Amino acid sequence: MARSRLNSGNTQSEDLPKPKINKALLKKALKIFTYLKPYRGKFIWGMFFLILSSLTMLAFPALLGAMIDAAQGQQTYPWLPADLLSIGGIAMTLLFFQSILSFGRIRFFVEIAEKALASIRKDTYHRLITLPIEFFANRRVGELNSRLSTDLAQIQDTLTTTLAEMLRQAISLAFGICLLVLVSPKLALMNLCILPIIIIIAIVFGRFIRNLSRQAQDQLADSNTIVQETLSGITNVKAFVNEYYEAHRYAHKLNAVVKLAVKGATYRGIFASFIIFCIFGAVILVIWYGASLVSQGEISVGDLTTYILYSMFVAGSMGSFPELYANIQRSIGASERVLDILEEEPEMITISESNNDIRTPMKGALSFNQVGFTYPSRPDIPILKDISFHVEAGKKLALVGPSGTGKSTIASLILQFYAPTAGNIVYDGKDSSAYSLTDIRNQVAIVPQDVLLFGGTIRENIGYGRLDANAEEIIEAAKRANAHDFIMTFPQGYETLVGERGIKLSGGQRQRIAIARALLKDPAILILDEATSSLDSESERLVQLALEELMRNRTSVIIAHRLSTIKDADQIVVIENGKVSDIGNHVELMSKGSGLYHHLYSLQSIQHVTQTG
Ligand SMILES: Nc1ncnc2c1ncn2[C@@H]1O[C@H](COP(=O)(O)OP(=O)(O)OP(=O)(O)O)[C@@H](O)[C@H]1O
Ligand SMILES: [Mg+2]
Repeated sequence: MARSRLNSGNTQSEDLPKPKINKALLKKALKIFTYLKPYRGKFIWGMFFLILSSLTMLAFPALLGAMIDAAQGQQTYPWLPADLLSIGGIAMTLLFFQSILSFGRIRFFVEIAEKALASIRKDTYHRLITLPIEFFANRRVGELNSRLSTDLAQIQDTLTTTLAEMLRQAISLAFGICLLVLVSPKLALMNLCILPIIIIIAIVFGRFIRNLSRQAQDQLADSNTIVQETLSGITNVKAFVNEYYEAHRYAHKLNAVVKLAVKGATYRGIFASFIIFCIFGAVILVIWYGASLVSQGEISVGDLTTYILYSMFVAGSMGSFPELYANIQRSIGASERVLDILEEEPEMITISESNNDIRTPMKGALSFNQVGFTYPSRPDIPILKDISFHVEAGKKLALVGPSGTGKSTIASLILQFYAPTAGNIVYDGKDSSAYSLTDIRNQVAIVPQDVLLFGGTIRENIGYGRLDANAEEIIEAAKRANAHDFIMTFPQGYETLVGERGIKLSGGQRQRIAIARALLKDPAILILDEATSSLDSESERLVQLALEELMRNRTSVIIAHRLSTIKDADQIVVIENGKVSDIGNHVELMSKGSGLYHHLYSLQSIQHVTQTG
């Protein structure tokens, strides 16, 4: 019974690893229990109900045995009335109380676990979104997601049922064995001699089988990965006509799964037959020996019945322990992983409603002083070595350079997603340390290289730039970003759903939404990380017009791939190999007659001529 309840519905948790429990791990995992503290009172009540109901349960075998003896005109226990009706009445009353106790126990434990779990979930999510970008660079979103769902579901399972069940079974085991001895020491002695042997064989065999099925599961998971990856990248599969290759790969994995599963089934069959043999063998032995004791007049028929019922209790408890223990192991592993997140160092941000208020306003002057930078995840590769530039408030600065030199990285540094490993970044003449993170990010907006829209309406996506913007302001921003017209061509206008489940917007359309979002934010510093994919001339013109509107009267850092867009920039910074190789405006850089900028510009002009000519 315990087994089926524990396993119900939670197949994902079954796959969670089961770490070896040691002292340090246990100590760490127990910290999860601090979340139960606010519900101390209810927890104690739950425990009280649990213990009481487990003990009440143990009275039934004695009562049932006494009933059988009473039917034969015998009295088993001097403290019980001898007539059948009274004993039946007592048993029914006790059963009624036992039901109430069980209800109370379940009700209290579930309430506590749900509330504690909600706090753990909130804290984990809260911590996750305040962690530095660097944390996310090293992890897959799917993995983090599973911590929030599978790991926490496992912990919840333990808090609601496993712990209580463990205690219940322990009580029933300990008291059950004592009562067995009380009812018939001789039978108990015989029983306890054969039991340990069976248990040891079962455990060893069980572990072996579980190993086999683990291997089969791993293979199955591998094959599922193939399905998932190929389905989400179906355009790649088709474009490269690799349907046969993928189908073959999948079939190959499945064959391995089947092989392992069949091997497992053989041993499982042997195991099941063995266990059934042992159980019924034990039953036959007990009844055979018990019956001979009855015929010798050593015990009554009622005693034998009581004995058999108690031994069923004891066997049930013993049988449930391995699964309960495995569940606890999984929960300890899960707690450890959740606590790992909770113990990560967050950014210097406290989440509050006033997060979007600006305390130290800036005008928008920006300097990089000999900035060097290495991604924490790849400490051996310096990306930026020596970057210095200065842009006055309200001016336009362009960054140019080959792909992969670190232009987008500079954008991340301006947003303080990372701290430079050398040099410093200065806003309005003050070092970045003089500002709070929120102050900087509230005054810098980015139109990123690949615009990601949330799965919501267009209105919500634009409104993300300033959460308190009203409908008119959103429409105004969209108009200025040249987005209003295309939005109005959709039947639902601003209420059109975009993102994964909504309609797909083109690259240029998404960019204009991002521009509207940035316009709404009205930042002092604007970063444009130009998309590498080229737009057609008409969208390009629309995006360009929108950008010009956006750049007016604010400091703009333009990361440009189409050099035609930055001809009028006040300064062009050419970056090569992590260093500034040239700096100046278009005319100055062109007049040099050599250098990367001149080279790239000439290349693009030729392309332009050949395309249009
Ligand atoms: N999160 C990251 N962790 C480690 N390395 C990174 C990370 N992001 C980028 N890089 C590496 O840093 C280098 C610079 O990347 P970046 O995106 O800044 O180039 P870019 O100049 O913007 O290129 P493009 O013109 O193609 O957009 C690349 O070699 C890239 O592999
Ligand atoms: Mg880039």
